[in-house]
Amino acid sequence: MTQHESKITDPKVVVEGVSKHFMRRDEELPVLEDIDLAVKPGEFVCILGPSGCGKSTLLNIVAGFEKPSAGRVTIEGEEVTGPDPRRVFVFQEYGIFPWASVWDNVALGLRNMTDKRKQQETVEHYINLVGLGGFESSYPRELSGGMKQRVEVARALAVSPDVIYMDEPFGALDSLTRLTMRAELIRIWQAEEKTILFVTHDVDESIQLAERIVVISDRPGRIAEVVDVDLPHPRDLGSPEYGQIKNRLYELLGVSNVV
Ligand SMILES: Nc1ncnc2c1ncn2[C@@H]1O[C@H](COP(=O)(O)OP(=O)(O)O)[C@@H](O)[C@H]1O
Ligand SMILES: [Mg+2]
Repeated sequence: MTQHESKITDPKVVVEGVSKHFMRRDEELPVLEDIDLAVKPGEFVCILGPSGCGKSTLLNIVAGFEKPSAGRVTIEGEEVTGPDPRRVFVFQEYGIFPWASVWDNVALGLRNMTDKRKQQETVEHYINLVGLGGFESSYPRELSGGMKQRVEVARALAVSPDVIYMDEPFGALDSLTRLTMRAELIRIWQAEEKTILFVTHDVDESIQLAERIVVISDRPGRIAEVVDVDLPHPRDLGSPEYGQIKNRLYELLGVSNVV
């Protein structure tokens, strides 16, 4: 545990001594080594590192899709042994159903809700929250990439999760849409007070979003440093503080001499 983390008194998510190797042919491929991390309730944490350093593997372990080779993950003190409906995962590839309308896609996780009026209200609330009011009856083929990703975010929020995992969710979007989506996500995060673990390889994305950035070194992935981003939203991308954090992240990623 870093000094900062040992000060977190009531953590939501705790990763303790997590290591992971995969078997490749007959050889062990070490992917993650001794990861310790504590996330506060309502915190927005980015996991940043180069491609292949094990970010997705780490998120999959925390979400319960993969088992660690060593160590463990607990959420509110309860060990994670598999996926849990209280937590949702937002992927990079659109996970929405092409044959279902925006409304039906968002309502997907609420099928078993017996109070239909409440269901209607919930779906409407999240469609409006992500800025898709008026598109309820549209189908995914009629939407832009950014709008599809908004549907996915609305669907994730509608089930009222306490933790949201996002694995490069805006990676397939063009750079302008990506900027808009980041701002939207921050607005939603502030309104809904969810705990968010967000994986990215994009330095700017991590500084725009996170309260803390967990920098993972190249394989086998270890925590190089946890960088605090103590800047108010919306963040001024031209401020000296922003520049300092950016330089530090590049340094940690070992690319400071090329930019
Ligand atoms: N199921 C798997 N079996 C074997 N190797 C895997 C598996 N999943 C990931 N890897 C390997 O682990 C490393 C880290 O992958 P990943 O976590 O996807 O990295 P990142 O998300 O940081 O790009 C890569 O070398 C990848 O090939
Ligand atoms: Mg990945």
